[in-house]
Amino acid sequence: MAARAPAKVNLALSVGPLRADGYHDLRTVFCALDLADEVTVEPAGALTVEVHGEGAGDVPTDRGNLAVRAVELLAAATGADPAVRLRLDKRIPVAGGCAGGSADAAATLVACDALWGTRLPVEELAALGAQLGSDVPFGLRGGVALGTGRGERLQTVPVAGTYAWVLALADGGLSTPAVYAELDRLRRVGSAGSTGTDPGTAPAPVLAALRAGDPVALGRALRNDLQPAALSLRPGLAGVLAAGRDLGALGGVVSGSGPTVALLARDGAHAASLAAALAGRGVCRDVRTAVGPAPGAALVPAARAVRA
Ligand code: C5P
Repeated sequence: MAARAPAKVNLALSVGPLRADGYHDLRTVFCALDLADEVTVEPAGALTVEVHGEGAGDVPTDRGNLAVRAVELLAAATGADPAVRLRLDKRIPVAGGCAGGSADAAATLVACDALWGTRLPVEELAALGAQLGSDVPFGLRGGVALGTGRGERLQTVPVAGTYAWVLALADGGLSTPAVYAELDRLRRVGSAGSTGTDPGTAPAPVLAALRAGDPVALGRALRNDLQPAALSLRPGLAGVLAAGRDLGALGGVVSGSGPTVALLARDGAHAASLAAALAGRGVCRDVRTAVGPAPGAALVPAARAVRA
């Protein structure tokens, strides 16, 4: 059984103050991209995982892997036998701020639910997903959504059109907790660019641009409170954002906790030329083009599944 789940970019991300439980309240607009990881599961004698593709060597193969935890959690919730062979085919950059680990967890929930015939309602899968990570419910749902709470509470957002992106991939990943901790530190010294005290209406310009189907307005409206923290930990990302501006991107933003930078293009042809020009600048490890919104986690027809 195989399923795939999408990468995401946060078009707006407002981060509230640090909560007592170690998380931050968010107001964010998630957009799923057609860059997706694929997960294949088959019955086996024991729970094993193998990882192929983009950054495979950096993906844990123990319980640190969200997909492994997804198998165990769904098995515990349904009484199924967690002994499966799990294969991850990575295309989403690892630890890149694009929710690759969450996508793997979301696709694993969908694939195991089908393999075991447990057929949980989508809300129950989302509730299990939220236990695994803040971005997993969005990986299940896809499209564009307004996320609140830790990012796990989702509302549909009306969107006109599709949007063409260039992703600038960095060398190495960034740890999400480390980026949030850096934001807290920058806020203590007053240099975070946001205080976290009033995230209330922050995504409004992004929502208006999406409703109007206006990529120019969307490019101007992109915002991410985590960006100063990601730039503080990776000063080189400022050069990627500057190169994007120079080369005519409609806007650019660090994706989630980074270090991937998402640049908005006018259309697919512009994205292709922007990606080539950006690669020529030598400011990032690699480039990808992607289109969003894209669907959430879904089964892949057997004939198209990657052969294990
Ligand atoms: O939920 P997830 O496991 O993806 O979160 C990873 C880490 O990111 C958390 O342990 C926390 O440090 C940080 N985080 C946060 N506030 C959020 C989401 C994540 O502080 N809303």
